[in-house]
Amino acid sequence: MNVHDSEKVAALLEGVGFVAGESEGQADLLVINTCSIRDKAEHQLYSDLGLLRAWKAEKPGRMVAVGGCVAEQQGERLLGRFSHLDFVFGTHQLRRIPELVASARAGDRQAAVGEERSPVHRFDLPMASRSQPEQGIRRKAFVTVMEGCDMFCSFCIVPLTRGREISRAAGEIVGEVERLVASGIREVTLLGQTVNAYGRHDVRRGQTATVGTMPFAELLALLDGIRGLERIRYTSPHPVFFDDALIRAHGELEHLCPHIHLPLQSGSNRILEAMRRRYDRERYLEITRALRRARPDLVLTTDLIVGFPGETEADFAQTLSIVEEVGFVDSFSFKYSPRPGTAAEKLSDAIPAELAQERLVRLQNLQGRATLASHRTRVGEETRVLVDGESRHGGGQVSGRDPHQRVVNVGPRAGSPILPGDFVAVRIVEATPHSLRAVAI
Ligand code: 5AD
Ligand code: SF4
Repeated sequence: MNVHDSEKVAALLEGVGFVAGESEGQADLLVINTCSIRDKAEHQLYSDLGLLRAWKAEKPGRMVAVGGCVAEQQGERLLGRFSHLDFVFGTHQLRRIPELVASARAGDRQAAVGEERSPVHRFDLPMASRSQPEQGIRRKAFVTVMEGCDMFCSFCIVPLTRGREISRAAGEIVGEVERLVASGIREVTLLGQTVNAYGRHDVRRGQTATVGTMPFAELLALLDGIRGLERIRYTSPHPVFFDDALIRAHGELEHLCPHIHLPLQSGSNRILEAMRRRYDRERYLEITRALRRARPDLVLTTDLIVGFPGETEADFAQTLSIVEEVGFVDSFSFKYSPRPGTAAEKLSDAIPAELAQERLVRLQNLQGRATLASHRTRVGEETRVLVDGESRHGGGQVSGRDPHQRVVNVGPRAGSPILPGDFVAVRIVEATPHSLRAVAI
């Protein structure tokens, strides 16, 4: 979501004459798009901003702006604390960027924050920056379908920084995807904090703010019918919004990719309850089994938190065991970080930092072995890779993603070079801990 917001910021700035710079040295305006999901991300901003004081002083006219979740929470306070900061924009105020730039140029430093309930104001933004890569063609795009979160998991700051759930009209989403496909896009990732809750408030509250929505599975079916669109993904879903229709969609829709990133957080029912996740271990397993019945080659990845207040060794053992039971091909795992204003912030039974660290390492080691084992089962398989660009492993290799969203490095092809945006048929020849290696066929 933040990456896509940065694309929208770039497009808005291009609209008023800016072009993307290659380095800080070249830039007239530096925008920091912030995250506050964990404490560390927030601190990064303060140290970066401190360093930018000197950058700004180097050349007259230089501007510094801060957007995103930290901006939403801190607002004016950021302007007070950092006198070299020119403007601040919250998560609902992207459209005001051109106006904020103009004010800042006139010496008026503003902080635009606060929630915006109108879907027109929230979603009616220019499409992401259309600038093409130097070589090849842009094939992938993000498309926002809903924003905000009403789930209030006890550890999570997102409902406080992204505001209440709001869905975008299906007609607009389809229109945007059609325009993207016409411009060469072949893969879209639908975005929302709880993406598969899409449209639910239309039904629940009859809100006019979300007219024109439909169940998420129906939206997927509509998009699946767009000629020329080859891959559909979505992120991130919440387990409670997997209804039968969405599970069936994974078996039926041709272009829906066989990968779901399905945040689990913990394998312990006691902890899941304290986290206010609204499902238990058994329900999560039931959903994953149903999804695999619908789509046997489905790859599941997840998010996990260790060291939530009160997490015992027995609770943690439940997380280790469910990771094995589900067979996640990969996972992101984090040490619990208390966030201001959340329900869990007030819990007293904090886990010592060293213990949380030790659990994190144990979990990551287990996942590392599982990822490699899963990669090894794929050696010899033929698949199709959408190429992103040069591989960081060198050797003339390119890197891209298979339908399961695994990173695949493809060796140089004799005769015709492989360019970003190409779909290549490949055979997997080697499994490594973080990726697959393949040859073009
Ligand atoms: N501490 C640690 N991890 C967190 N996440 C969200 N909030 C916190 C927190 N307070 C993790 C969750 C979520 C992912 C995006 O970040 O696992 O799925
Ligand atoms: Fe945060 Fe996701 Fe829970 Fe919403 S559903 S509160 S974004 S963890």
